[in-house]
Amino acid sequence: MNSHTVFNFELTELQNPTDIYIKRLSDLKDYYEDVPKELSAENPILYMVEKFDKNNSKGHLIVSTTTIYSGVVGNEYYFTSGHYHAEKFSEIYFCLSGTGLGLLKNKDEEEVVNFSEGTILHIDYEWAHRIINVGKTPLKFMSVYTFDGGFNYGRIIEEGGFKTKILKDNDGFSVERR
Ligand SMILES: [Fe+2]
Repeated sequence: MNSHTVFNFELTELQNPTDIYIKRLSDLKDYYEDVPKELSAENPILYMVEKFDKNNSKGHLIVSTTTIYSGVVGNEYYFTSGHYHAEKFSEIYFCLSGTGLGLLKNKDEEEVVNFSEGTILHIDYEWAHRIINVGKTPLKFMSVYTFDGGFNYGRIIEEGGFKTKILKDNDGFSVERR
């Protein structure tokens, strides 16, 4: 392991993260259709991000891992908030473990793709992206993206949010469009 190495597959861990943060239900409550009062009071952790941002400046790559825990809010499986990139830079998502889906959105167009262990997703810069954990175990994935791409969270809200909902359905899931 040297200063150029950022990830170890055997440990499935990011080496020397520069930032770690968690997102709780209270951070994402506006994204879910129905937030039960009891769950709101419990305020569970939905996901955790570990980030390796060595240079934090133009031209550099950022690597992060995200762990989405297993669970539902109302009928909706836990998901990441999702975002567009502010600038025209794409991104790679690599699913390390678990069973999930990717939800991609470009204006009114939305697509759902498989995103389970071993899947690599190339996200074109035009598409907003959200990951959903539809499994019984944590879903962990790695992202590789540019500092230059930035984030645009507001545009999804301006467009009325993701119209596709991933709901718990017996042991599996169903995809519904609002
Ligand atoms: Fe992104």
